[in-house]
Parts: sequence; C-alpha cells; structure tokens
Amino acid sequence: MVKINKRKFYVTTPIYYPNDIPHIGHAYTTIAADILARWYKLKEYDLFFLTGTDEHGKKMEQTAEKAKRKPKTFVDGLIPEFKNAWQKLNVKYDRFIRTTDSDHEQVVQVILSEVHKNGDIYEGYYEGYYCTACEAYYTEKDLIKDCCPIHKTKIEKLKEESYFFKLSKYQKILLDLYEKNPDFISPRYRSNEIINRVKEGLQDLSISRTSFSWGIPLPFDKKHVCYVWFDALINYLSGIGYLEKSKQFKKYWPADVHLVGKDILWFHAVIWPAILLSLKLPLPRKIFAHGWWTINGEKMSKTSGNVINIEKLISFAGVDSARYFLFRETPFGNDGDFSESALIKRHNTELADKLGNLVTRVSTLAEKYGLEKIKSSKSLDSSKTINKTVKYIENYEFDKALNEIFAFIDKCNEYIQDKKPWESHDKKVIYELSNGIKSISILLSPFMPETADKIAKNFNFEISLKSLGTSLQVVKIKKSDILFKKMEETTTVNKKQSSPHAQAKQENKIPYEDFVKLDLRVGKIIKVEDHPQADKLYVLTVDLGEEKPRTIIAGLRLKYKKEDLNGKLGIFVANLEPAKLRGIESDGMILAAGDNYDSIVILKPEKEVKPGSKIR
Ligand code: ME8
Ligand code: MG
Repeated sequence: MVKINKRKFYVTTPIYYPNDIPHIGHAYTTIAADILARWYKLKEYDLFFLTGTDEHGKKMEQTAEKAKRKPKTFVDGLIPEFKNAWQKLNVKYDRFIRTTDSDHEQVVQVILSEVHKNGDIYEGYYEGYYCTACEAYYTEKDLIKDCCPIHKTKIEKLKEESYFFKLSKYQKILLDLYEKNPDFISPRYRSNEIINRVKEGLQDLSISRTSFSWGIPLPFDKKHVCYVWFDALINYLSGIGYLEKSKQFKKYWPADVHLVGKDILWFHAVIWPAILLSLKLPLPRKIFAHGWWTINGEKMSKTSGNVINIEKLISFAGVDSARYFLFRETPFGNDGDFSESALIKRHNTELADKLGNLVTRVSTLAEKYGLEKIKSSKSLDSSKTINKTVKYIENYEFDKALNEIFAFIDKCNEYIQDKKPWESHDKKVIYELSNGIKSISILLSPFMPETADKIAKNFNFEISLKSLGTSLQVVKIKKSDILFKKMEETTTVNKKQSSPHAQAKQENKIPYEDFVKLDLRVGKIIKVEDHPQADKLYVLTVDLGEEKPRTIIAGLRLKYKKEDLNGKLGIFVANLEPAKLRGIESDGMILAAGDNYDSIVILKPEKEVKPGSKIR
C-alpha cells in the first residue's frame, strides 16, 4: 500500500513566451506538472506547482511592436488566454508567475547584485550571433548556412557592450555534479549530449543588452537590461518568495523537478545550476526534459504555424480524453507525432469500450441488485497494480502507469464476462468489481480528474489514499451516465464533429491581432533583372520609401516582360522574414492575383501614391 508521508514536492513548468496563444505543446508540459501535483497531493505531500509567462526580451518587444502595442499592454492581452487554457484543462497550479510581476523584477535585481558581488559578473564586449526567436547566442560553428540551426532564419550578428556571467568557472563543478547525480538530467539518454558539450568547454555568458529596453535594468548599470533567460530562470526562486527568504521559500526550495521540453534543456541543466552555484543555493533535484509533439514529423511551434489549438482539441475530444491521449500515446521523454485517428481509436477502444463500459455495467448491476461485502478474490486484487503504477508515476513513466491501470481494467472486464453477474445476480461479485473500479479511478485521478470524480460520486467513495487502502462501504449505488461518447472514425473532412485540424482549415480565420502584424506597403519597382539561377524568377529592386531600396524576388518572369514591370507600382509584404531563393536573398514579397503562373496579375494602387504608403 502507498504510505502517507509528510514531505514536500515542488514542481515547475517553463514559463512560456506569451507572444501568441498557447498550444498543445505548452499544454503537454503543464498537464504533466498537474499530474505530478495531483499525485503528490493525493499522497498528502505539501505541494507547490508553479507555472507562468516569460514576458521580457527582444522577441516579446518585437512581437508587440508588430501588433502596434506597448509590450506590457500586448502581453496583458494574452495572459487570460493562458489562464483560461489551464483552467479548461483542469490544471490546478499554486501560482501563475509573470516576469513583469513586481516581486519577480525585484528578485532578479537582488540576484544580479548578489552574483555581481560574488565576483561572477564582469563588463566586456559581446561579438557574436544571436537568434531572437530562440533568445539564444550561437557561435559560427552552430550556424547552418548563416542561419539559426533551429529556426532556419537569418541570424543577427551582435556587437555591443555587455556584462558577462562567468559560466566557464563552473565547468568542472557541473561535470562533477552530472557524474555524481546521473538522474539530475532525465531521461538519462538526454544527458550525454549535454555532458559532451560541457566537456568541450563553456563560454562566459553575455547577460545584458543595451540595444533595446524591454527588460529588467541591471542594478549596477542601468543602461543595460538583463538577458531574458537570466531573468526567466529566476522565476523558480521568485515564485516561492525568495526575496523575504520566507518560510515558504525555505520549505519548498530546492525544486523537486523542473519539467521542460528538450529545446530548453541546456538553459536548465547548465546555465541554471551555474547561477545557483554562484548564489550558493542548493540545486534542483531533477531537470526532466520531455520530447516534442510533431505534426508530420515537424515540431509543432508558433513559428511554423502548425499548432493544434487547445480549445479545439478539448471540444473535439473532451478534456480527459485529451489529457489521457497525450500521456498514453508516447513515453514522456520521446517525441510523438500527433495523429487524430490515433486519438479517436484510443478514445473509442480504451476509454469508451474498456473503461466506460465497465463502469456502466457494474453501476447498473449494483443499482439493480446491490452489493455484499467480501474480500476481493486474487484475480481482482489491485495491490500489484497500485504498486507498479506508483513506481511508474514517480519515475515519470506516465504511459506505463496508464498501461498498467488499463491492464487491470482488462482483468475486471474478463472477470465480469466470466462470472456473468447479470445472470447470477451475485452481489459479492458486483462488490468485488466495484472495489476494482474504486482503485482504477483513484489511480487514474491525476490523469483524468473529472472522470475519476464522476465515478467516485456514483460509487460513493473519496479520491484519497486512505480510500485506496480500504474497501468500499456497502451503500446504494446509482447507475452511471455514459462517461465517454464514441467518436466517429471517418476521415476528418466530412465529420460533423470537426477535428482540430479540419476546423483550423475550414475556418481559416485569423484574429485582428494577427492581421495587423502584416505590413503591406506600396513599392515602386526601379530595376528588373533575370535571376541567374532560376528561369521563372526576376530579381526586383524596389523602392519602399525607405533609406535604401530592397531586393525582392518575384516569380513573374513567365508572365511579365521586364519593361512591363520597370517603373511600376506594386503592393508588397514589407515585414516578411528574409529568405534565400536560389542563392539570392529576398527581403519581401510582391502580391499578385491568379491561381497559376499563366493567369497571374500584379496588384497596383488605383492612383499614383508615394512608395512606402501603408495598405490598411
Ligand atoms: O522556451 N512539443 O518558452 P516557449 C512539446 N520562455 N512541448 C512543447 C512544444 C512541442 N511541440 N512546443 C512548446 C520558452 N512546448 C522560455 C522558457 S523557462 C525559465 C523559459 C513546451 O514559449 C515545452 O515545455 O518557447 C517547451 O520547452 C516550452 O513549451 C517552450 O515554450
Ligand atoms: Mg520556444
């Protein structure tokens, strides 16, 4: 049996960039934290679950600028999206921290001063690469064709005054830490890559910028704002009251686990411990890096625009089915490709047929014939299942935990088939099965809290460890409503209950907020040349009313002669990320109408307007 133990557990998620609404990638980490939180609460641990948003930095400043909002106003508009999503997913955190919260800002300044005082920050000059989408520094050898290795977009070269954190100083201590604590970086198969990189040597980390202002000023040099990752990581301390070195802080620090995606493991497994070492604080017990949800093999991300929307997933599958699928489908740690048909299949066969039917059948029989107390026979003894499930959950093997619970559900279904209590009216068999259902729902409760609550109400037990260890009271039981309605297994296109993929396609609508991000302008074509590498493309030189004309590649060569374009006005997307087309970089796009190359015509303003005029 699971022992009650008065201990604490402190679990965190990354704090997400509120540059867009959250998607199921963010939901994944957040639900994982909720599963652990609910589990340890069930075990009566003193629990703290922290999540929130990472609101400073160049990326957020740029996103707000594109939306023509002040950064704070822009992020204020997105926070309810995160909070609502977590509420709808039945996630119960203890604090939602925003890095613009005043207590956090204060803690960051205090910590900067402490690290500075400890001699780990010095003034210097940074010259190197920076990807704003990653908010990360890169060296020449990291780049792929001058582009960010993650985002594949052109990378910026920074040359500016900066303060540095002496990361290099911690190389040996970190290597020692990884060696002595082989599970500090989990799963273990992820630790080698980190260890090898640390062995190659650690560069000191540039932790301040002067070229923009949306960040926390360094207390010892107000011209500089703090690097967004240095600011963000500190949330794990400020979120539990670092400043006042409160009772709460003393109770919960160090964190028991920081859950993160594998994309940000380096920051958590290398930079974060180094900062803590400088502060002489204890280190977190574990950094667990899970894999990515992909769509057709590509990481689901805001930048790629291939995300599964949380609300759509919920309205499609239901909260518990969605939570179940995400953790049953792939081991926590591995990547998983999101597939609707896999979700429908699991929903129908595992939730509706196996779990749902068992609960309906047993509750119907119990209502009709009643219960009679008896010790569970061997085949329905759930203690092995309980022990194994505990082990798996606490080892972050959520898929195995669910598998174990469902193996027991299978046993119950076999038992009912075998004993046929609808024929025998055997109240003892119905009692045994009801006890089995009690164990099942208590074990499932961290994963599927709503379903577990419904079952507990019907069978009149409490979701608690005590109740897991004792057998059911003999009371009157009511027939349960259907827990999971089956979903149609047809292709998504013609489905009445439209899938998250199909809905996004059908609606094809974007919020006004997104529309205003688009910067469309009138431009004057001042030169037209053939693209040397591609016979459909022209290289246009375009005056967009800026200091210098731009180079923009256009696929108009089959349709337009050079003289038909030269000197003409056109309409251009002015804020498209530059892209190389057959070796030449295009900094924008011309708009044209038509379904194919033959029928294509360029768009022009009706009257002469000056280059650079905005389209609204
Ligand atoms: O990195 N699959 O924020 P972020 C699985 N602000 N998980 C995914 C995912 C996917 N396709 N996409 C996102 C940041 N995630 C920083 C963190 S922490 C001090 C600062 C999840 O908005 C996953 O947890 O880019 C990933 O690590 C995180 O969202 C990145 O969120
Ligand atoms: Mg990211």
